[in-house]
Amino acid sequence: MKNIVLIGFMGVGKGSVAREILKKTRYIAIDTDDLIESMENRKIKKIFEKEGEAYFRELEKNIALWLEKSVKNSLISTGGGFYKVKNLKKIGTVVLLDSPFEEILKRIEEHPNAQSKLKKRPLLDDLEAAKKLYELRRPEYLAVADIIIDVTNKSLEECSKEILKKVKKDG
Ligand code: S3P
Repeated sequence: MKNIVLIGFMGVGKGSVAREILKKTRYIAIDTDDLIESMENRKIKKIFEKEGEAYFRELEKNIALWLEKSVKNSLISTGGGFYKVKNLKKIGTVVLLDSPFEEILKRIEEHPNAQSKLKKRPLLDDLEAAKKLYELRRPEYLAVADIIIDVTNKSLEECSKEILKKVKKDG
């Protein structure tokens, strides 16, 4: 199976959609943020605080090279900025989870663990800056994606079915 690479803005539901797909398929689960936290043995928030964002982006690049070379049959969910790695398309079929910024915020705020979701994402500390980042990134997400899934008002099951159908067609 060709890898699936889930991309999209923070809080759009990459992790939740991945868990739903994993229930129904034999993909191996990989999460780039989790890999970075295990490699570094500390939380992303700490890495940003101590080392800065540029250092974190270097870690993402290294992981991307490893994924391209060594990983198959996997469903890879990524951090919201991972899409910038140069070899993204060589890792697998790139699937964008797309939704308006306001819907993403609503989704985070309605989550039972909203506070911890916000706390662990340093780039959501300032919501105005986050909205600007969203607007800057959205056209880039669209440009790099092989498959675009509008997740607005869709259940996890609907999203996962749509992804699997489109991935099959994509070959
Ligand atoms: C980031 C998104 C985060 C995490 C880091 C940076 C980003 O992942 O990788 O805080 O640049 O958008 P999620 O998209 O899982 O929140």
